[in-house]
Amino acid sequence: MFMLKVSDLRKGFGSGRRRLEVLKGIDMEVQKGELVSLMGPSGCGKSTLLNIIGGLLEADSGSISLDSFNYGTMSPNRVVDVRRNGVGWIFQDFHLVDRLNALDNVAFSLELSGIPSSEAEERAKSALERVGLGDRMEFIPDQLSGGQQQRVAVARAISGSRPLILADEPTGNLDVKSGQEVINLFKDLCAEDGLSVLMVTHDPLLASMADRMLLLKNGLTAASDIRSAWGIEEV
Ligand SMILES: Nc1ncnc2c1ncn2[C@@H]1O[C@H](COP(=O)(O)OP(=O)(O)OP(=O)(O)O)[C@@H](O)[C@H]1O
Ligand SMILES: [Mg+2]
Repeated sequence: MFMLKVSDLRKGFGSGRRRLEVLKGIDMEVQKGELVSLMGPSGCGKSTLLNIIGGLLEADSGSISLDSFNYGTMSPNRVVDVRRNGVGWIFQDFHLVDRLNALDNVAFSLELSGIPSSEAEERAKSALERVGLGDRMEFIPDQLSGGQQQRVAVARAISGSRPLILADEPTGNLDVKSGQEVINLFKDLCAEDGLSVLMVTHDPLLASMADRMLLLKNGLTAASDIRSAWGIEEV
């Protein structure tokens, strides 16, 4: 059963001679409970693809089905539901609020989506426990390691019970061991909680820990394997 299905998705920027076609007919799926890694040379359109899937940018043509949502070419102001209930985001630089502790960082984003404070706090606590930070809830980001900060961001992403996590280079600022821990956490969330994760990474080793690897190149996605992945960053 697929959680995400992207069909013939196209996106370019600019017009006339300056026109740049970035996505040229992307077809891909992510199953429920699947961790998929997305690799590809810098500037090939990985973030653009994630932004369209996340409802932050509209495609020129093509379609996206995510859970019960159908969109793709709809403008961002018409896909509020996708952003609110469809996807959780994780970024390279964590995007935590410096002055809020771990608990409030997670609870805050739930409150912003309209959940009453007491319920937000309960859900934030259980999300932090889920990512192994039950004993760090009162710590502010500065008092946490990079790996722990990213796990707070993972807690925030899963606390809203959204079916798909989009992670744009989630391990880019982490050492090897912390990076592997984040990927292992993704794997647990997929296997045990039925989440789906689409993760961009430049690291072939981390990419190969996913259930499946995709390569985005020349505007199209293709299945990839570990041996070709090692060559991707050299092309
Ligand atoms: N709003 C925009 N206007 C014009 N061009 C854009 C815009 N957004 C992205 N691009 C261009 O689209 C291409 C793809 O960019 P994108 O950020 O998706 O690449 P990426 O694969 O995520 O790269 P990286 O690995 O470096 O993060 C680039 O050439 C970029 O300059
Ligand atoms: Mg990018």
